[in-house]
Amino acid sequence: MSRHADPVPDANGALLRTTGLTRHFRLGGLLSRRVLHAVDDLDLVIHEREIVALVGESGSGKTTVARLLAMIYAPTRGEIYYRGRSVRTLRSRKDLLWYRGEVPMVFQDPYSAMNPVFRVSHGVMRNLKLHRPELDGAQRHDEAERVFDIVGLNPATDMLHKFAYEMSGGQRQRVGFAQALAVRPKLILADEPVSMLDVSIRAGILNMMARLRADEGASILYITHDIASARYVADRIVVMYAGHAVEQGPTEVVLSRPKHPYTQLLLSAVPDPREKAGAVSADSGEPPRVIDPGEGCRFRERCPFAVDECALVTPVLRPMGPAHDAACHVAVADPVDSDPAGSDRTAVATSSSDGTGG
Ligand SMILES: Nc1ncnc2c1ncn2[C@@H]1O[C@H](COP(=O)(O)OP(=O)(O)OP(=O)(O)O)[C@@H](O)[C@H]1O
Ligand code: SF4
Ligand SMILES: [Mg+2]
Repeated sequence: MSRHADPVPDANGALLRTTGLTRHFRLGGLLSRRVLHAVDDLDLVIHEREIVALVGESGSGKTTVARLLAMIYAPTRGEIYYRGRSVRTLRSRKDLLWYRGEVPMVFQDPYSAMNPVFRVSHGVMRNLKLHRPELDGAQRHDEAERVFDIVGLNPATDMLHKFAYEMSGGQRQRVGFAQALAVRPKLILADEPVSMLDVSIRAGILNMMARLRADEGASILYITHDIASARYVADRIVVMYAGHAVEQGPTEVVLSRPKHPYTQLLLSAVPDPREKAGAVSADSGEPPRVIDPGEGCRFRERCPFAVDECALVTPVLRPMGPAHDAACHVAVADPVDSDPAGSDRTAVATSSSDGTGG
């Protein structure tokens, strides 16, 4: 625990918790009244050593959530508590440095986050100098080799001397994780870390994330539009639609008994024979309105189950089963005695094989 920020435990054991987290963007000139609702009233919880998948289509607000948690954006409303302390109280450079070390972000396009004129060791060394000033030059070098080894960039001595353009997309993504690991993170915000990679390389990165949790004790917010990959790696899923969390719960429960019509839509688009077809098809309906959306369910134009109430009242998350919630007026909760199948972590989470294809 850091001497800098004097964190206190969260009363409910959460590593990070948001309450009513909201981010709006004003559109147009100074006189414009149009407001884009990127994220509204998000209550998110991430526990220690937990992988939470934040799933949703393009524009649903996933990156905005990550940027809020990384303190790149300030919330319009709502709070972020890290280890029980509101991040609004982190004001000094020391405290901010401490938080950014504990909660680093790995960006979707690692190439754009790397300086092409420096070797890839540069970013890791810079992070080590900034966040771990107690290390001397030799220790920094050893640590850089250690984190490259952990993320599967072998042999680390050679890999550290490459330039970003000499690496594959998967290798660059691993460099992004190595930079995050160098600062001894407690929670890695991984924004679409596999979306730009070939399918054959994705499994290696997902396995690596599972190992970071198992071996390094890191929690991960895994942001993706690919709900199938969430099955592969996440303990819990939070589904976002047009800035709202519409369903959340243990991965296997959400995937086997989706309650929200939008989650069903996402699953119907997964070409996996084990998945049940959803109730609506992937190409049905209009994209969501997030500019001045007003009251009502934001999914209603695409939803085959919409009733009058859906246009008038914004649905909020309500219990569907153990630790399973959905925000839908017509969703029916599981019977109380049904078997909560889903708290299992997938086998990959403890796998030692990494498939270092990337
Ligand atoms: N800085 C900004 N200014 C104005 N609008 C923004 C800004 N950042 C995001 N938005 C808007 O907020 C909404 C959510 O964007 P966000 O990038 O969070 O979505 P996303 O779920 O990450 O999408 P994708 O899957 O395409 O990355 C979008 O409508 C986007 O245009
Ligand atoms: S609240 Fe209404 S419109 Fe929204 S998902 Fe449920 S049934 Fe469909
Ligand atoms: Mg995004």
